Amino acid sequence: MSDSESSRPAGSAEPGTLAANSRPSLPGDLSPAELVERIIRVDHAGEFGARRIYEGQLAVLKNHPDAAIIRHMHEQELAHLQAFEKLMVQRRVRPSALHPIWNIAGFALGAATALMGAKAAMACTVAVEEVIDEHYQQQQAQLGTDEAPLKATIERFRTEERGAEEATGYPLLTSAIKAGSRLAIWLAERV
Ligand SMILES: [Fe+2]
Repeated sequence: MSDSESSRPAGSAEPGTLAANSRPSLPGDLSPAELVERIIRVDHAGEFGARRIYEGQLAVLKNHPDAAIIRHMHEQELAHLQAFEKLMVQRRVRPSALHPIWNIAGFALGAATALMGAKAAMACTVAVEEVIDEHYQQQQAQLGTDEAPLKATIERFRTEERGAEEATGYPLLTSAIKAGSRLAIWLAERV
């Protein structure tokens, strides 16, 4: 454990320090193909969940002055979802087996927060976006130059995701949603 390579803990690779072709294989590491498969599956599930959140919000807030903003975000998520659907076919990745759960949970989260009011709905959006942003950033760091188009797609979606940046005033709700979103990511990567 004297040289820098062997003393580096697993999973601590700094973005940019390891080129795509020199990714080390550490115990528990995914192969590049497995990594891409996992990324496409979880991002597809996430974009689908996001679509359902906005559908839940719109079911409640369709006549609210903020409805136009929610509709815009919903359309953006539809485009993201379609892009990952295409990638799933191209790269032969199966969807998350928990798809029916994301369908219901996303809608329920959107509708429940919207029932608390437009501000709570926005707090929900911000919390989910924050987790997605952090997660997409991690994925970008994991992908090498051999996956440049996928990396660029993730970067573009990550930027588009960050529409709603507002002080929320719902700390408990925000942290619950963040915890739930992280759990959903963990599950959709694996199941
Ligand atoms: Fe998205």
